[in-house]
Amino acid sequence: MDHFHYVGGELYCQQVRLSEVAAEFGTPLYVYSRTTLEEHYDRFAQAFAPLDPLICFAAKACSNIEVLRVLVQRGAGIDVVSGGELHRARLAGCPGERIVFAGVGKSDHEVREALTTGTPPSTGGPPGEPIRTFNVESEQEYESIAMAARSLGVRAHAALRVNPSIDLKTHEYLHTAARDAKFGVDMHHARTLLRKFHAEKHLRLTGLHVHLGSLIHDTRPYVQAINECLTLIDELASDGIRIESLDIGGGFGADYVTGEAMPAAEYARAIVPLLEQRVRNGLKIILEPGRSIAANAGVLLTRVMFVKRGPQKKFVIVDAGMNTLVRPALYDAFHFIWPASVSPQHEPVRRQSSPDMPGLETADVVGPICESGDFLAKDRLLPAVGRGELLSVFTSGAYGMAMASRYNSHPLPAEVLIEGSRARLVRRREDYRDLVAHELPETTQIFDGRAAARRSET
Ligand SMILES: Cc1ncc(COP(=O)(O)O)c(C=O)c1O
Repeated sequence: MDHFHYVGGELYCQQVRLSEVAAEFGTPLYVYSRTTLEEHYDRFAQAFAPLDPLICFAAKACSNIEVLRVLVQRGAGIDVVSGGELHRARLAGCPGERIVFAGVGKSDHEVREALTTGTPPSTGGPPGEPIRTFNVESEQEYESIAMAARSLGVRAHAALRVNPSIDLKTHEYLHTAARDAKFGVDMHHARTLLRKFHAEKHLRLTGLHVHLGSLIHDTRPYVQAINECLTLIDELASDGIRIESLDIGGGFGADYVTGEAMPAAEYARAIVPLLEQRVRNGLKIILEPGRSIAANAGVLLTRVMFVKRGPQKKFVIVDAGMNTLVRPALYDAFHFIWPASVSPQHEPVRRQSSPDMPGLETADVVGPICESGDFLAKDRLLPAVGRGELLSVFTSGAYGMAMASRYNSHPLPAEVLIEGSRARLVRRREDYRDLVAHELPETTQIFDGRAAARRSET
């Protein structure tokens, strides 16, 4: 069931009317449905249950602490790619055993935080636990994490991210396992590294990690990648090297247009049979879905500021732009946009404009940012809208707020979590104080180059 639905021409999330939420908390506003997050997680958990996997939600998709907490409470782990995301995961109450840490450029500082009980109290961090595993992306990175573990006297685990070089039919920015990608290592190099480091005492390299990219509407790339990993696992086994975990990453699709993506069960139908026996033999499986869980659990509410007719085009100028939701500008991504209050004839049944509806007009929906590339939709059929009307930008829960910026000095928007009939503010709207907080005189620090040179001379 879609928990963002129209009743009598009014858009609701669960039991809450979104025009009222926007009136209460202002716009632009990200709104998440708790029930949708839970259902999407449950679908993955059920579909892949025969593998008893650890499902680590990719925090990069939507990193709000309360969103993470909803999923952690449901049993999810978290896939983090920075010390900041690790900090959020710990604040959301995620046990260290359920945290995996990927990324090509982990700093020494971030590595130490992950290896120990967490961020120092001075940064507001809760006491955490060391994480489950590092997903390592290069030999140098492996060596630097191993050195940190040795110097701290701790033992940790790592998985090697491999690139099976699979040709994906997705946007080039969303393809992360191509031959020339900056991520991971090729299969040949992987073999060498796993042989070299698998038994290192302080950082045992005993896992494989593969993440192909995003918005993969096909099971074949997963099948191909998993088979390549299994071949590698078997080759290593014949040398007496045991691989203990296989992380198959994320990348599962989401419905930007109704019916566009496969359900979790369909991915599982292709993937589970490949791995069931391996799991019985002790292989641990990890999944890292992000978009497929969060995208349709969120909408962006934005208000029409002006309607402007040019010689060729009609522009609907709204208060959310590429600073609020960058996906259309960055990837030319499609988001279904529709007014939050419509007449009955304009109640949409699908996340797609229907040319059969009467009285629609073509318009570009654009933001307030001073860039020609600032748009949310181009040449889109919409009911006529006027100043002050509320629009909903659907499927915005993933890579929406997480990629928002303060470009043009717009403070970041607020986020609200809908729980039954309650709307809870889970991130307050920023104001101008937040905007300039790091530039105020008391935060400035002076480095005197001449004085430093004099010091180094003496
Ligand atoms: C390592 C890793 N895991 C998981 C994900 C989540 O991907 P998606 O949101 O497409 O499921 C990403 C996204 O880029 C990623 O880089």
